[in-house]
Amino acid sequence: MTSTAKIVIENQETELPIIIGSEKEIGIDISDLRSKTGAITLDIGYKNTGATKSDITYLDGELGILRHRGYAIEELAENATFLEVAYLLIKGELPNIAQLSEFETNISRHTIVNEDMKNIFNAWPTGSHPMGQLIAMISSLSSFYPESIEPNQSEDVKELNVYRLLAKMPTICSMIYKKGLGHPFIYPKNKLDYVSNFLNMSFKHVTEDYAIDPVMVDALNKLLILHADHEQNCSASTVRLVCSSNANLYASIGAGVAALWGPLHGGANQEVIEMLEKIKADGGDVTKWIDKAKDKNDPFRLMGFGHRVYKNFDPRAKIIKKACDEVLNKLGINDPTLEIAKKLEETALKDSYFIERKLFPNVDFYSGIIYRAMGFPVEMFTVLFALGRLPGWIAQFNEMRMQKQPIGRPRQIYSGYTLRPFVKRGDRKASAK
Ligand code: CMC
Repeated sequence: MTSTAKIVIENQETELPIIIGSEKEIGIDISDLRSKTGAITLDIGYKNTGATKSDITYLDGELGILRHRGYAIEELAENATFLEVAYLLIKGELPNIAQLSEFETNISRHTIVNEDMKNIFNAWPTGSHPMGQLIAMISSLSSFYPESIEPNQSEDVKELNVYRLLAKMPTICSMIYKKGLGHPFIYPKNKLDYVSNFLNMSFKHVTEDYAIDPVMVDALNKLLILHADHEQNCSASTVRLVCSSNANLYASIGAGVAALWGPLHGGANQEVIEMLEKIKADGGDVTKWIDKAKDKNDPFRLMGFGHRVYKNFDPRAKIIKKACDEVLNKLGINDPTLEIAKKLEETALKDSYFIERKLFPNVDFYSGIIYRAMGFPVEMFTVLFALGRLPGWIAQFNEMRMQKQPIGRPRQIYSGYTLRPFVKRGDRKASAK
């Protein structure tokens, strides 16, 4: 393999360095292209642009491979706890017993949110979307911890910000859920593990006991692991871009949550259940809905299907589909939308439209059915995705800072008017719109 690529622009040949990744991926380093040739590259939607080198996650969309720091997602989901995976993503290695225990203790010391934060909830109307609340709550942590704003922090302050965010996230997410019900908040119980504590804060009623179901703990632990990182996706890239301006951790991750909310990204998990319910209410004829998804004049898309990088299968979806069956069986729940989802998948996977375009179920296709079986309302689904993705965002943020990467600032090909003379107000014709 040569170490340079050649590009010819108007008979002028320029050599560009080739960067090889640890899994032999090839990247052409075009950072000097403009200074050498005057040209930029155009890649709308960043479909073929590597924005960074990263040690965190490896993904091969053709082979359906997902690994964090070298460990296969299948093994992590089967054997690890969510906080072990968080440690792995953020610190780079799996923790030993003492390291994990210290990590868990540090997190458990910061689970309570400042009482003043409760006032923010008072301002929102009951029924406002949980994701809008989550964006605001995470960003507002920078107001409660102003030392987080300074870009040149000591290692201790950096670490404290990370512990605070990891610790307060389940508390904030459960407060958002309780706010939706109009119920009083439940305080964290630090003797509980991370996932059990979150379930307790969400499902314990202030007047009654709540028995934490180990089936739910296992299922949520797995789901959080499966969402923990996904390299340079829309929200992680947003976190990195915001971070690149030296904005603080809470602001950067608040922005990542905003990116996640969209229905083409994490918001798809809410859309999937709404779609399955619509199909059920419509009589359950999946072929009718598949035809709608194929019709280019119909805006309907099969939600939870397709992926920018996975072109064979999404390894997370495989694990979640299996978990979905297991959890519903163990909880004794018969959810007719699961049957519709399976029929939809089976029919789509035989259809040439989906085969040719390599469209498969993604992580969001079956996850909502499990979240619903646990008792969460659909509006909370993307919040649960965010809870799982948090360690990934933190790892991406830290890596940006550690590598001292420059501010992110893409270029453009301008396609508007060329220079034209200014027209005085009275002489202007009505503009097109
Ligand atoms: N239903 C019907 N057609 C689809 C779908 C779908 N879900 N997804 C893609 N297509 C078609 C699309 O119309 C296009 O067809 P054509 O070549 O004839 O124009 C072709 O497949 C390629 O699609 P694209 O939109 O150019 O692909 P993309 O890489 O830009 O978008 C995607 C990827 C995930 C946004 C898209 O597949 C989609 O909208 N899926 C539904 C939303 C969804 O489930 N999102 C969650 C993604 S996984 C969670 C996460 O990590 O965010």
